[in-house]
Amino acid sequence: MSASLRFVPLIFVLFIGGCVGRPFYPLPSKMADSNRRPLQTSRPYNIAHRGSSGELPEETAAAYMRAIEEGADFIETDILASKDGVLICFHDVTLDNTTDISEHKQFANRKRTYEVRGVNTTGWFPGKFSIISFEEFISIALDAPRVVGIYPEIKNPVLINQRVKWSNGKKFEDKFVETLVKYGYKGLYMSKDWLNQPVFIQSFAPTSLIYMSNLTDLPKILLIDDVTIPTEDTNQSYWEITSDSYLEFIMEYVIGIGPCKDTVVPVADNYLLTPTDLVSRAHAHDLQVHPYTYRNENSFLHFDFHQDPYAEYDYWISKIAIDGLFTDFTGSLHKFQECISPLSPVNESSASKLLHKIALLISNGKV
Ligand SMILES: *[C@@H]1O[C@H](CO)[C@@H](O)[C@H](O)[C@H]1NC(C)=O
Ligand SMILES: *[C@@H]1O[C@H](CO)[C@@H](O)[C@H](O)[C@H]1NC(C)=O
Ligand SMILES: *[C@@H]1O[C@H](CO)[C@@H](O)[C@H](O)[C@H]1NC(C)=O
Ligand SMILES: *[C@@H]1O[C@H](CO)[C@@H](O)[C@H](O)[C@H]1NC(C)=O
Ligand SMILES: *[C@@H]1O[C@H](CO)[C@@H](O)[C@H](O)[C@H]1NC(C)=O
Repeated sequence: MSASLRFVPLIFVLFIGGCVGRPFYPLPSKMADSNRRPLQTSRPYNIAHRGSSGELPEETAAAYMRAIEEGADFIETDILASKDGVLICFHDVTLDNTTDISEHKQFANRKRTYEVRGVNTTGWFPGKFSIISFEEFISIALDAPRVVGIYPEIKNPVLINQRVKWSNGKKFEDKFVETLVKYGYKGLYMSKDWLNQPVFIQSFAPTSLIYMSNLTDLPKILLIDDVTIPTEDTNQSYWEITSDSYLEFIMEYVIGIGPCKDTVVPVADNYLLTPTDLVSRAHAHDLQVHPYTYRNENSFLHFDFHQDPYAEYDYWISKIAIDGLFTDFTGSLHKFQECISPLSPVNESSASKLLHKIALLISNGKV
């Protein structure tokens, strides 16, 4: 690798590496190290929402590796399935917004309209055009120089189970859990096995979580959307699924909830209103609360925070007392937490190994 190559912008090079050169990542983990620094459990979890997605294209290898470098406790992803049954990391139900599909005229005949959560949606649906697979995502976490958890969402299970058929009548949920088991994920929250390979399984669909609770005892998080949006599978309202009786019911299956943050603390005219009692009621049921999504951009920061993302983190961690944060800017959250509740210094030698690996990826890439 020439010296000048090292300075090619990472964003460009790694994005190409991630999309074109598949498979690009050795599986299973080759760099596992039993002496890795453990997961921190003394402060709210830093959950890298779609990787370091404020800096690099979401859900790409580059975004995940950057998030690890910046101090993520968990790397977060959405899992969908391609038509041929491969689990992939991808958020949207169409390829339009986050890929260059429109430039590939050979795929024009794959444009479809499907009903997705009650709305007819037209676009290119995942065919063979995958980004990174669930397995590649897992291997990025397992290869990290310290213990890094994963936080995969089983996305749109109703749609996927309608459109994708696996052999032996297997469902999306079965394939999802099989993949986790294949790579050694097991055990209750905070068990030795779990701490070795931490994971939270998340879903907006209670039926999927309840089904998967029969397949694995790994901790699960019920995601909760905006107050106006019913659950995608059971058509229950926000008020139903945040009632005390529902929390009582669901606590048997999940370890916590992942609510949209504006529903925990409602907002009017871009100012915060009085916080709801959702966090205290969840905590009373021994449920963790991991709200989403924290973002540095001015357009997402409420006026109360004076364009200061640290002020927002301080409010949510000190006043609202949440247990984890989905953030697009893992690096900012990490720096904030290091200021207010520092961990012992990062092992620089391990950190430099990761940088070396990124350099290797570049030199093995298609540039
Ligand atoms: C694509 O982006 C537009 C504009 O942000 C948004 O309205 C639309 O919902 C996105 N489509 C998908 C499938 O996410
Ligand atoms: C979606 O389109 C199909 C076919 O045109 C139609 O039968 C169905 O009612 C539409 N669904 C919605 C929710 O508009
Ligand atoms: C869980 O497994 C038991 C025993 O096989 C079965 O009776 C039950 O219906 C299953 N529950 C769900 C939600 O699939
Ligand atoms: C969902 O629930 C609402 C409110 O109870 C009801 O009006 C609507 O018809 C239901 N939709 C479906 C698809 O069941
Ligand atoms: C830092 O990591 C290196 C390489 O993994 C290891 O040899 C060294 O013992 C670690 N140092 C500390 C203080 O943990």
